[in-house]
Amino acid sequence: MRPIETVTIAISPTAPEPERIAQAAAVIQAGGLVAFPTETVYGLGANALDAAAVGRIFAAKGRPANNPIIVHIANTSQVHDVAVDWPDAAQRLAAMFWPGPLTLVLAKNPRLPDVVTGGGPTAAVRMPAHPVAVALVRAAGVPIAAPSANRSERLSPTRAEHVLRDLRGRIDMVLDGGHSQGGLESTVIDVSSPRPRLLRPGLITPIDIEGVIGNLERPTREGAAAGSLPSPGMLPRHYAPRAPLECVAGSGCGRVEQYCSQGLRVGWLVFAEGEKAGGSASVVRMPVDPLAYATRLYDVLHELDAAGVDRIVVELPPEGDAWLAIRDRLTRAATPRTGR
Ligand code: TXA
Ligand code: MG
Repeated sequence: MRPIETVTIAISPTAPEPERIAQAAAVIQAGGLVAFPTETVYGLGANALDAAAVGRIFAAKGRPANNPIIVHIANTSQVHDVAVDWPDAAQRLAAMFWPGPLTLVLAKNPRLPDVVTGGGPTAAVRMPAHPVAVALVRAAGVPIAAPSANRSERLSPTRAEHVLRDLRGRIDMVLDGGHSQGGLESTVIDVSSPRPRLLRPGLITPIDIEGVIGNLERPTREGAAAGSLPSPGMLPRHYAPRAPLECVAGSGCGRVEQYCSQGLRVGWLVFAEGEKAGGSASVVRMPVDPLAYATRLYDVLHELDAAGVDRIVVELPPEGDAWLAIRDRLTRAATPRTGR
């Protein structure tokens, strides 16, 4: 890929400047790529109706062509550009959680280019709540296809600096709106069949969803082990920092001391006050509230990567719905690299 100039534009996350949004919208309309903050993580956007533009997302990220991309819309009527069916469950979930960090998988509109859906029969759609994302989709006047703005398999970005570290020279523009709000990717629910299924846990929990539509099918450990993955993004290895990461039950003090005694530089994510790091470990005290933890997690992992630690040891958060998405991402970040 020949390097291109990546322009960074500072933008207010609460009251985005219209002329800056117009500049970014012009890039989208011309078939370019713009990274922008959302209430989850930074997205890498292109005109969802322009197959060549969406193709550039795959090239910039090194994303496998069969991994479909979420389409972002600014109002409910745009759903019809993306999907052909709007079932009752979708209607109720959208009424409750849109705009917000919920993605719905629906039967695809044939007019949506196949490249967006990885050649599959369904399309994922979400209406973001972040003022910059909303303003950009509105000004572009088209739905915007946007995966997380990172190289494939790597950590999602929660700041413009993270985007630039991965994608400078490969994308046209970054709208720098500071820290993305939620810090963890959206919840993905498949409502294209009569029994709604959880494809990716996120900030909106299964309990929240079941409160609106009743029983939700959840992926079983057995299904995942057998390789019957419902969604390409649910592959075991994903969301990973450079340094090998391991999750431990309990604080992990013994493991940290062992690594330090081998001369390794260790980043250590713990809850408890008073845990003493063996040797030179960088100790990061994590919030005990799951939402605060989610906001902080990728930031901390990016910082440890930038600091060049050799190992990351994480005290595994408790079980239960509130921690489901965090445990999911930590587990995937910890899966050993295969053949790389
Ligand atoms: O919070 C988010 O969802 C962020 C922001 C930018 O909106 N986006 C994001 O996109 O995390 P990405 O591409 O990194 O993850 C999208 C996930 C992947 O696991 C993908 O496989 C799944 O959604 N997905 C997309 N379209 C799908 C479809 N039609 N059927 C099943 N899974 C789908
Ligand atoms: Mg991603």
